[in-house]
Amino acid sequence: MARWLFSALFGLSFVASSTSLKIYDLSEANWTLTNTGNDTISIPAHIPSVAHIDLHAAGVIGDPSFGLSDFTLRWVTDQNWTYATTLPQLSNASSTWLLFNGLDTFTSIELCGDHVASTNNQFRQYWFDVSNIVDACKGDVELSINFGSAPNIANAIAAEPGQETWPYGVEIPFEFPNRQFIRKEQNDFGWDWGPAFAPAGVWQPAFVVQLGSSDIHVRNSVVDVFREGQYNNLPPDQSQDWVLNASVDYFGAQPKDAKMRYILMDSSHGTIAEGRMTSVNTTSSAVTGLTTVPSDLVELWWPSGLGKQSLYYLRFDVLDSSNATLASVEKRIGFRTIVCDMTPISEEQLALGVAPGNNWKFEINGHEFYAKGSNFIPPDPFWPNVTEARIRKLFTSAVEGNQNMLRVWSSGAYSPDYMFDVADEMGLLLWSEFEFGDALYPANREFLDNVREEAVYNVRRVNHHPSLALWAGGNELESLELETLKRVAPEEYPRYLAEFEALFISTLLPCVFENTKSISYTPSSTGNGWISFNSTFMVERYDNKTAGSIYGDTDYYNYNSALAFNTSSYPIGRFSNEFGYHSMPSLPSWRAVLPASDLHFNSTTIQLRNRHYPPGGTFTDNFANTTKGMGEMTLAAQRWYPVPNKTDPVANFTHWIYATQCFQNEFYRSQIQWYRRGSGMPERQLGSLYWQLEDQWTAPTWAGIETDGRWKMLHYGAKDAYEHVIISPFYDAETGLLEVYVTSDLWSPVSGTANLTWMDWSGDRKTDVDSDDSGADLDLENIPFTIGPLNTTKIYSRTLHPALENTLLKMSLSAQGTLPNADLTILTPFTHENWFHPTPLSVAALVDPGLRVRIGSRNTFIIEATRGVAAYVWLEHPQGVRGVWSQNGFWLERGGRRAIVFREEGGGVGGEWMGEVKVWSLWDNGTP
Ligand SMILES: *[C@@H]1O[C@H](CO)[C@@H](O)[C@H](O)[C@H]1NC(C)=O
Ligand SMILES: *[C@@H]1O[C@H](CO)[C@@H](O)[C@H](O)[C@H]1NC(C)=O
Ligand SMILES: *[C@@H]1O[C@H](CO)[C@@H](O)[C@H](O)[C@H]1NC(C)=O
Ligand SMILES: *[C@@H]1O[C@H](CO)[C@@H](O)[C@H](O)[C@H]1NC(C)=O
Ligand SMILES: *[C@@H]1O[C@H](CO)[C@@H](O)[C@H](O)[C@H]1NC(C)=O
Ligand SMILES: *[C@@H]1O[C@H](CO)[C@@H](O)[C@H](O)[C@H]1NC(C)=O
Repeated sequence: MARWLFSALFGLSFVASSTSLKIYDLSEANWTLTNTGNDTISIPAHIPSVAHIDLHAAGVIGDPSFGLSDFTLRWVTDQNWTYATTLPQLSNASSTWLLFNGLDTFTSIELCGDHVASTNNQFRQYWFDVSNIVDACKGDVELSINFGSAPNIANAIAAEPGQETWPYGVEIPFEFPNRQFIRKEQNDFGWDWGPAFAPAGVWQPAFVVQLGSSDIHVRNSVVDVFREGQYNNLPPDQSQDWVLNASVDYFGAQPKDAKMRYILMDSSHGTIAEGRMTSVNTTSSAVTGLTTVPSDLVELWWPSGLGKQSLYYLRFDVLDSSNATLASVEKRIGFRTIVCDMTPISEEQLALGVAPGNNWKFEINGHEFYAKGSNFIPPDPFWPNVTEARIRKLFTSAVEGNQNMLRVWSSGAYSPDYMFDVADEMGLLLWSEFEFGDALYPANREFLDNVREEAVYNVRRVNHHPSLALWAGGNELESLELETLKRVAPEEYPRYLAEFEALFISTLLPCVFENTKSISYTPSSTGNGWISFNSTFMVERYDNKTAGSIYGDTDYYNYNSALAFNTSSYPIGRFSNEFGYHSMPSLPSWRAVLPASDLHFNSTTIQLRNRHYPPGGTFTDNFANTTKGMGEMTLAAQRWYPVPNKTDPVANFTHWIYATQCFQNEFYRSQIQWYRRGSGMPERQLGSLYWQLEDQWTAPTWAGIETDGRWKMLHYGAKDAYEHVIISPFYDAETGLLEVYVTSDLWSPVSGTANLTWMDWSGDRKTDVDSDDSGADLDLENIPFTIGPLNTTKIYSRTLHPALENTLLKMSLSAQGTLPNADLTILTPFTHENWFHPTPLSVAALVDPGLRVRIGSRNTFIIEATRGVAAYVWLEHPQGVRGVWSQNGFWLERGGRRAIVFREEGGGVGGEWMGEVKVWSLWDNGTP
């Protein structure tokens, strides 16, 4: 039975209240999916979906996550797929519309056999007045949506006469070429961390809407919350009142003399303020109005770790000339200002020792803060397969990992509202980007017009979320793309630069600035900031730099693992938005997607799932390309850790996996500590977002969280390095100079004591470690320190003896301070522990730590090191059990004991899995 929604409540946010308006949600309909033209497959289907999901559900294809499916399922990608349904009985209405919130990507839409439209942008919302077709239709009203093959169409567009071309190497190629010509999720064509399914389908909800003669239907809406006088990219005056600018995007009859009314409510829907909106403007597509809210009427929204996440509801109605409600929208909002500040370094900052140049930092409610986090990629190759519950689990892990910001990497898809909703609640800032990356893009009028529609829709759709932190034009465009061009095609550079600016500045910047005053814009994720800007243009600095000045954010990858712990190879900038190295996912994750015969390090399937090819290489070019990524992991593991050489092949595989995870963890921690120390250095470094938060398939990748939510060692290690107050070693292996720093990202001073203990691997104290052979190095205990807000302090410095294979330094601190936005009289204790080893663990004189494991009360394991120091103690829960350990990948000194609790998220029925948990430490790598 068709279900019409009268005055229906729609999503989280909106109520349509006119009586003649009817909305039919097409996800309620029965759909079929057919491979158009071949007509050999015809199956029941549903929406929102893509062909792969429906084919899997119907048993036509196996699980796309298994084995080599992304190669064997390319026939799916090669075909046209048609989604078809019969519309319900339509009533007499003055107009009938089709509304699509997302079609992926190339479609030809027919209703009752008549062509309605063709579409070519996955990220746009489309709506069509189909009244004439419906009126003329005899019998059932059939809707069919024929999706063309995106890789084939991309190739055809690239081959059109007069089409733009770029020198080899500018588009970073993955499995299918020419992604830059089409507006579809760019990683659908493959990426170095993901498969290439290039799915097709009705990937977002779709509706039939019927309107009476004076009805309107709200298809999108925007709320902008900003301080009076605020302008994008500039820190606002925090003493000003709030402005709420609200607008509805509609289709239907343009209302005459429309008015707007609003109610501002607290989180339990209690009214805080209400009244008429002023300055109401009506156009043929939008009604806009505004009001002001006194500053003291509302509480501020803060990111996680920096204060509370206060949320409010704003309901706003559009009224006609007789005060009847035409439309009503409710959105959850927050009061905060967030600015990505790239203003010049001020005299005041210079006086504090900040290097000249410009800022590149975020300010929340007028406070600069340290951004701690990672990069988010699309969490599944098929977006319709992602649910709010899955995002909630993932974001819970991010917040538990002490992260307050995610960079939502461009070249995926614009984030669904539910993702922002979860982030609003958890205080996770989402740096958002337009979906462009690692290529340059056409700049012809048709392409730019298409992009403008996509950008305006998405900017307006998500602007009310307090977690929205930034709009960036795309990924690595200035730092990589323009730099490559300058090198390989210097004579054509000005033309390409003009095209870059036509898209990323002249087109996208006004899409942001005309629709919001509360969000900053930067054309490229990594860059050197702006020199000046106005409402339509921005003069970027590019590489017009003055020596000694520091400008932008940084992006750092170096696959020469010999340099991994050499801090002089790290970039010096104001903010680090990407850095990383790949590692292997766990054995349990591999078991879920590989046949048992493939459970070894360099099995064919694993090699083919490694997409970290040499520049310009693809699998199709040369199978040998797969050795680059595999080789780098192997070399790093061999160089820095004891090489596993176990007789049981699966145990050997497990320990190789573990060694790659130890390296990844140690390398990222080394960088995070170094970037964070930069908060107290001339670069005044204020952010570290590593690459990448999570996986979308099981493969060698840069992720810290595997597909089922399992944390790699990296996520545990980053959680520790993102604590508010940390103690960290900095060692120059050439000079032997060791320095120990304490770093704090609190907003008030913090005091405490640090404790340094030298020992050997058996856990016996050592006292003479320096190079002057002068006897004992005492006075290492109870070193007092005080650190200013967002700052760092050196507490220890010594030149070490060159031969210290059997020497370790345990560093710990305990301190008291105040959390940001907490009452100053409430002191919070902070503790942190870290370990330093002057020689690589591959040559260290490891001893058997005598690890003892006891199962305690429910979900608790007690781990003890009875004979020596245990490095990187690791607990591995079995496949199918989901959850997170309270700590993992930690060190234990001799006699040290910890109770580790498993926060179970499912799959562990009855607790029998506890007996299957495996526990080991680095020493076990060297045992047979
Ligand atoms: C879909 O098909 C089922 C089974 O044939 C039927 O019971 C149901 O009424 C149909 N739904 C709609 C909306 O047509
Ligand atoms: C969708 O995700 C679930 C797990 O969340 C997985 O079992 C299923 O195979 C996925 N579907 C497809 C088509 O990949
Ligand atoms: C029919 O299927 C073949 C192989 O699966 C494919 O190459 C071809 O493009 C398909 N034809 C159409 C019209 O989609
Ligand atoms: C496949 O889709 C493309 C693009 O929409 C279209 O031009 C073509 O006619 C379609 N082919 C078939 C057999 O439907
Ligand atoms: C309505 O338009 C006027 C004139 O263009 C403008 O001053 C006013 O700010 C607009 N109102 C809103 C809410 O944008
Ligand atoms: C609409 O409401 C406003 C405010 O309550 C009132 O002043 C006005 O007279 C009303 N207009 C009509 C046509 O009822």
